[in-house]
Amino acid sequence: MKAAIVGAGGYAGQELQTLLARHPSLDCALPMRGRAQSPAEGHLLALDLERLGEVDLVFLCTPHGAAAPLARVALEAGAKVVDLSADFRLKDPAVYEATYGAPHPAPDLLDVAVYGLTEHNRREVSSARLVANPGCYPTSVLMPLLPLLEAGLLEAEAPIIADAKSGVSGAGAGANATTHFGNVHDNLRAYGIGDHRHTPEIWQAAGTDRIVFVPHLLPCFRGILTTLYLTPRTGIGPARAREVLQVAYAEEPFVEVLPPDTSPTLHDVQHTNQSAIGVHDAYGQLVVVSTLDNLVKGAAGQALQNANLMLGLEEGLGLA
Ligand SMILES: NC(=O)c1ccc[n+]([C@@H]2O[C@H](COP(=O)([O-])OP(=O)(O)OC[C@H]3O[C@@H](n4cnc5c(N)ncnc54)[C@H](OP(=O)(O)O)[C@@H]3O)[C@@H](O)[C@H]2O)c1
Repeated sequence: MKAAIVGAGGYAGQELQTLLARHPSLDCALPMRGRAQSPAEGHLLALDLERLGEVDLVFLCTPHGAAAPLARVALEAGAKVVDLSADFRLKDPAVYEATYGAPHPAPDLLDVAVYGLTEHNRREVSSARLVANPGCYPTSVLMPLLPLLEAGLLEAEAPIIADAKSGVSGAGAGANATTHFGNVHDNLRAYGIGDHRHTPEIWQAAGTDRIVFVPHLLPCFRGILTTLYLTPRTGIGPARAREVLQVAYAEEPFVEVLPPDTSPTLHDVQHTNQSAIGVHDAYGQLVVVSTLDNLVKGAAGQALQNANLMLGLEEGLGLA
């Protein structure tokens, strides 16, 4: 089968090219630049909308706002689409406009789009034509949080604190004053406090706005570590929480729930599609540590899981 990557030269697009190079049955036939004015360069082709109908599936690795019109062209040409941008993640166009500062570019396609948190939405993804690949931070928060919420282990009124930290590749290849080497190296900063764009996505997927999400910029290239501070219901301790997660992910090759007193690090997950989760008690609170590689499970790897399902292939192909 054949895929196109639009925005193949960006960080997420490069990661997808690497994964597809090892894929036994999905070929990256059209690695394209993202913008119409970007010329062909090396093996990267100029953007050619006419050719999107030649492939089975198009990965969109372009910024939000730019992705939605490209998705429409690809769908109309008969290709399936996995969009790595935020364009189809939020179901309410008013929330999109409030979050991204512009009207939704294709509100009629919002009903067609399926949120691709693969382990939690496998059936819908399998029959989807358009998948909204989740954000990297939301994936790191939701993987441990959803099973705990669904099992009713958390105190209903208590806030859920999601203290998240990402390597600088999460911001993409273009440097700015915040992300250039001199301001990242040997430094650590919180950002987007109270208004980060991933907060509405996390709230929507978790079904609650009790979540206080604060991201931080780490002085390393790749990986996310999120620490969740959770108030358990009376009588619920880390052993029960760990058991719930172990049962939820027992059959999942890309999720590892660690044994007691073990906390995952970035080195455990960098360059892999793994989500690793450690569960702890701290003074009666549940403390859950979640790590993943923002470019793999947080972007290209999860996109490939979704693409495999959409194409009727085995979900883990190209990701071992
Ligand atoms: N980085 C991550 O960890 C991560 C994780 C999850 C999701 N994402 C999402 O994935 C997408 C790509 O992220 P990235 O980190 O790979 O970004 P990036 O490194 O900045 O690359 C973005 C690509 O988009 C293209 N582009 C830039 N402006 C464009 C426009 N106005 N119209 C069309 N194409 C445009 C560029 O292509 P040309 O230079 O070829 O024109 C570039 O290759 C974004 O929507 C991002 O939010 C990223």
